[in-house]
Amino acid sequence: MPYEPMSHVQVRMRIKDRGTGYTACPVSAGGGRSLLVQVPRGDAGLPWVPPGTEVELLRKDGLRAAAGTVRARTLRPVPSFAVELRDTLLSEVLYTPKEGRAILVTGGKGGSGKTFVSLGLSVLLAQQGWRVSLVDADLGTADIAVNLGLPREPHLGHVLDRKVESMAALQQGVRPNLAVLPGAMGARWGDPSVWKLGHLLTVVQELRPSHDFVVLDSRAGVGQDVTALWQGVDRVLFVTVDEPAGMADTLNLLEAFGDTGRLRSGALVVNRVHSYRDASDRLLDFAQQVRRLTGRELPLWGVLQEDPRVHALAAQHKLLAEAYPLAPTTVALRQLAARVQA
Ligand SMILES: Nc1ncnc2c1ncn2[C@@H]1O[C@H](COP(=O)(O)OP(=O)(O)O)[C@@H](O)[C@H]1O
Ligand SMILES: [Mg+2]
Repeated sequence: MPYEPMSHVQVRMRIKDRGTGYTACPVSAGGGRSLLVQVPRGDAGLPWVPPGTEVELLRKDGLRAAAGTVRARTLRPVPSFAVELRDTLLSEVLYTPKEGRAILVTGGKGGSGKTFVSLGLSVLLAQQGWRVSLVDADLGTADIAVNLGLPREPHLGHVLDRKVESMAALQQGVRPNLAVLPGAMGARWGDPSVWKLGHLLTVVQELRPSHDFVVLDSRAGVGQDVTALWQGVDRVLFVTVDEPAGMADTLNLLEAFGDTGRLRSGALVVNRVHSYRDASDRLLDFAQQVRRLTGRELPLWGVLQEDPRVHALAAQHKLLAEAYPLAPTTVALRQLAARVQA
């Protein structure tokens, strides 16, 4: 295996069930799925970790980047392990994007939970240390500021009218690591010109450098604003409800999306599920229809339960993801956040 110390790379390694952190630095690549982890000087216990031991690699910022298995140990040229990664390439472990990724949350139907997913995803990503800007791009019927109990102005409409700079309209520190750009409420904002839509894409570009994630909440259906945003994002989450009508709406949306070639970046989230057992047949059927329509397998990245506590929390401007970190719906949202990071 070639050995090239990369002293600038900082990855930490945690050995499962021991709870101990080791600085795996320098790290040397031995192919896409394996790497050498050098034993830190003075860490006498590490060389005796036997092959087959499960390890986790953590990035400098503490986020879990990959899991792997110790395959071999070597003492030369320096004591190290060969670790084989599971499901992740080394380049993905080491990759820290310079520019934030833009994620559009959309769906075929109003009330399916696009805003609920945008909010939950954003606060959970921010809790994990990512710098997030949440943009309410639901032009005309925006409600993120209301959901969070924030001032509603200045808003995206003012930015698109070029009365305010995007950075000035961004409300910083809504939560640690979370900034929010409120959306425009009212009919006059509902039908933006192509110039404004072009400017909307510019706003996304302006926010990327200073954030790890730009999450965009949008309105339902195939409005021009939504189709414009498809062009400017890295990932599109289609939120659909677990009902035939909602699923049919989402299929319509996917069909409209189909020939733009951007479905590659799409993933499905099914929300407001009442019973996993009842839903499973419908979900399978839905997945099949999606495959037939689009000719591809769109990954199902979330199945979120309807949680009866959401309604009462909303009156206090509280989010389920924060008030109930262990609620099944929050756990599913956290899994969605993990997939978005991968
Ligand atoms: N998983 C869920 N459990 C309970 N209530 C939910 C859930 N998802 C969404 N809601 C509620 O349903 C309503 C519509 O959701 P919202 O996110 O505003 O939909 P959209 O943005 O797609 O129009 C809101 O009152 C929201 O709080
Ligand atoms: Mg909404």
